Amino acid sequence: MANQLNIKGYDYIEFYVGSAKMWAYWLAKAMAFDIVGYSGPETGIKDKTSYFLVKNKIKFVISSAIKPSYYEVASFVEKHGDGVKRWSLNVENVKDAFDLAVKNGGIPVKNPKKFEDENGYIEESAIKLYDDAEIVFINRDNYKGIFRPGFGKPIQKISITAQDSGLQEVDHIVGNVRINEMNLWGNYLNKTLNLETFLEFGAGDISTQYSALLSKVVRSKNGGRIKNPINEPYEGLKKSQIEEYIDEYWGSGIQHIAISTNNIIASIKALRENGVEFLTVPNAYYDLLKEKKLSKMITEDIEDLRKYGILCDTEGKGYLLQLFTKPVSDRPTFFFEIIQRREGAEGFGQGNFQALFESIERDQELRGSLDREE
Ligand code: FE2
Repeated sequence: MANQLNIKGYDYIEFYVGSAKMWAYWLAKAMAFDIVGYSGPETGIKDKTSYFLVKNKIKFVISSAIKPSYYEVASFVEKHGDGVKRWSLNVENVKDAFDLAVKNGGIPVKNPKKFEDENGYIEESAIKLYDDAEIVFINRDNYKGIFRPGFGKPIQKISITAQDSGLQEVDHIVGNVRINEMNLWGNYLNKTLNLETFLEFGAGDISTQYSALLSKVVRSKNGGRIKNPINEPYEGLKKSQIEEYIDEYWGSGIQHIAISTNNIIASIKALRENGVEFLTVPNAYYDLLKEKKLSKMITEDIEDLRKYGILCDTEGKGYLLQLFTKPVSDRPTFFFEIIQRREGAEGFGQGNFQALFESIERDQELRGSLDREE
């Protein structure tokens, strides 16, 4: 057995949602994804529908139960609302990766299995993550059809026009966990996936007047293709956004997926025109940015960043541009981040956290979930 997992990168991410059809439409219309595959009653799957969406290297599967008997999806959505059930890693050998992960402490949830049809086969296995999520090991090298067995072309040929978002690939996937769980899951990911701790933000590093959090970034050793930050609430005067997530999601889970772009100004302009809602950044942020030394290395016009509300930060080398959507569905839980890394920037925007958290706190105030219930 090889002594490493031979992870090639992220593969698909699957969401369990109330209405896969509506989510697929939103991702196509708002985020400019293509709906390229479908599975459901018409393809022989009786109690679940799934849409397979692609944008450049990003692959999403959006699934809904269409009968209460599909309990795995129905119970997930009942408890958590719309959210990420599993993210997957493309590996050279599914069995070897799974065996090694389990040997190193991974909790098995799906033993390696082959799925076959006339277009070839895929292999897949999974280990547990957080309360109710999974990390999947997958290899689709020997499959020539759409995504995987069980999928076909979309039934209705709908042409959806959208401004091109220019979204490229998954940059990182972030989890929110309870107090005292960050190190547990950080160690779990490091041991089972052979990752390493890259950054740690301790008490006082990330806080506002009201709330605080701890954060740890684990990533793959081969230059960080796989990056998985984990957040934990830290004591503050009021309820932090991480606590709010844990309450509203009913447990620990995936907080956001960051997607890269090669031109964030064009991407945010297009996404805003498509109706995507973003967190708002105070005007004063850009006045400060102009004053900071950092602005000398920024090639983008600060007025463009101000116009589209894009955040800018530096950590180590280079600088990064980023912006966060508002929660995508009904509960204030899952959201997307759009990110552009410049000059080899490796960070996650710690310098933006304060401006951002204050923005999130304004929304929390509106939801009445900034104050803790007595
Ligand atoms: Fe992020």
